[in-house]
Amino acid sequence: MTTARKSNLLLSHLSPKSHLAAFLLILLGISLTLLPLSAQQPPRPQRKGDKTAGPSVPTTSGEVARGKYIVEQVAMCPQCHTPRNADGTLDHAHELEGAAEFFQPPHPDQNWPLKAPRIGGDPPANDQDMIKLLTTGIWTDGKTLRLPMMPFRMSEADAKAVLAYLKSVKQQH
Ligand code: HEC
Repeated sequence: MTTARKSNLLLSHLSPKSHLAAFLLILLGISLTLLPLSAQQPPRPQRKGDKTAGPSVPTTSGEVARGKYIVEQVAMCPQCHTPRNADGTLDHAHELEGAAEFFQPPHPDQNWPLKAPRIGGDPPANDQDMIKLLTTGIWTDGKTLRLPMMPFRMSEADAKAVLAYLKSVKQQH
């Protein structure tokens, strides 16, 4: 093999590589430019716990007070969603933090939930999904939750107030 052929070979070997490097750099540049754009894209399909899936619903202090009344005096969410002390009283230091299901089915039921999940502080779904649950009884998977969770049919205003109160709950750890 002559030296000329060798360097020729070397060149033809090198140049596609450097083209590739340049191409990759350009690609990187494009994706970096597009990155901020993709952040403004329409919300992703809703799923449980996705807080970015819709605008959050603004709340007022009046709603928080009304929501507290509905949660504590009418719908009794803490009876299931707040854990209990050894003597059976509600452990308010862990308000709405989720609890082992206190109520048992009258007949053996494999599908009975073992837990009422945490709902206070940072609700488990986005605002739209929480309001949908409280006004229609339908959860993020398109189905009703299992009993003893009640398929509530609140008015939109009541559901918003409940949500406002749930968000306001401060949990002590
Ligand atoms: C009688 C008991 C009971 C009461 C009262 C109750 N819940 Fe529940 N809740 C449950 C149980 C049990 C589940 C779990 C259901 C399941 O796993 O299918 C649940 C599930 C939920 C979930 C879904 C949480 C998740 O992460 O999957 C939300 C939200 C919720 N409840 C909100 C409320 C609100 C708000 C109230 C009051 C307005 C309330 N619940 C009253 C028992 C109750």
